[in-house]
Amino acid sequence: MAKLDISIPDLTLPDGNKIPIIGYGVGTAWSKTDENAPKDQKCIDGVKTAVKVGFRHLDGAEVYKNEEELGAAIKDVNIPREQLFVTTKVMTNIDDIPAAIDLSLKKLGLDYVDLYLIHSPFFADGDKKALQQKWADMEKVAASGKAKSIGVSNFLKPHLEAVLETAKVRPAVNQIEFHPYLQHGDLLAYHKNKDIRVSAYAPLTPIVRAKGGPVDGIVESLAKKYAVNPGEVLLRWCIDQDVLPITTSSNEQRLSDYLRVFTFKLTPKEVEGISEIGNTHHYRAFWTHVFDAEDRS
Ligand SMILES: NC(=O)c1ccc[n+]([C@@H]2O[C@H](COP(=O)([O-])OP(=O)(O)OC[C@H]3O[C@@H](n4cnc5c(N)ncnc54)[C@H](OP(=O)(O)O)[C@@H]3O)[C@@H](O)[C@H]2O)c1
Repeated sequence: MAKLDISIPDLTLPDGNKIPIIGYGVGTAWSKTDENAPKDQKCIDGVKTAVKVGFRHLDGAEVYKNEEELGAAIKDVNIPREQLFVTTKVMTNIDDIPAAIDLSLKKLGLDYVDLYLIHSPFFADGDKKALQQKWADMEKVAASGKAKSIGVSNFLKPHLEAVLETAKVRPAVNQIEFHPYLQHGDLLAYHKNKDIRVSAYAPLTPIVRAKGGPVDGIVESLAKKYAVNPGEVLLRWCIDQDVLPITTSSNEQRLSDYLRVFTFKLTPKEVEGISEIGNTHHYRAFWTHVFDAEDRS
């Protein structure tokens, strides 16, 4: 199998910490439904393969019910802790964030995570004070050293505005579903303006879940131009907008191929071309129970 000897570059977060530009997630494909089920060796092996190939940014969450698997893989790979970037998120135990981070760290077998995220704002049901209170709890986690950086996930402008009103530490990252068919209007520009990094989950949606849509042609022709796969064009479309893609795969060759994103760059016109064509279509893969079918926010 051809292997690329490429190390994944970092971006600097607003708090000064570094984050590897592309992340490997253990949600979706690797999530468990039963927390008490035996450890999923395939998930452990998936993470180990990702690290072997060169991934250092690992994205987990308490709700994926596989923090123990992620922790076991981290232990097995035997890479100095400071060379890994580990994220987890709080949702199930949002009522008690201090207890939630302790439990996550115990399952991960770690003293700290690099990034701790509020998994979604929807627990608050639009209650500004509830969001502000939980963000204050997150700031305490950061102050305790149990998370180097703190952030949010699935937050839209009103949720971020609520948090920023009272925040002492601004969210370093907002992890959102982001791909050509879900660009959220001016949300990206809002993040740039507020100096919050965006990470993108489900970045491959146009070729995985919404195949046959209008960007297929341009993505395929750019893949030919740069001699890469369509998935790599979609990852690059994120990176060229300073968005950090979080992907996953059980396929070693595919993971290794993803690192080719650091061998080419889309031109601003190509990025814009994908965005414009993507905007003619709408597809949301996650949290569909929260949004109306045509809601592009
Ligand atoms: N914060 C949130 O609410 C939230 C929500 C969802 C996800 N996430 C995070 O984001 C991570 C990535 O999410 P995602 O899985 O949606 O990412 P994605 O990058 O859009 O999709 C990855 C999936 O696409 C498949 N795939 C890749 N190329 C393919 C191809 N050419 N043909 C067919 N299938 C292909 C992979 O399967 P193979 O194994 O076959 O390669 C893998 O299962 C998750 O693991 C999780 O950590 C967060």
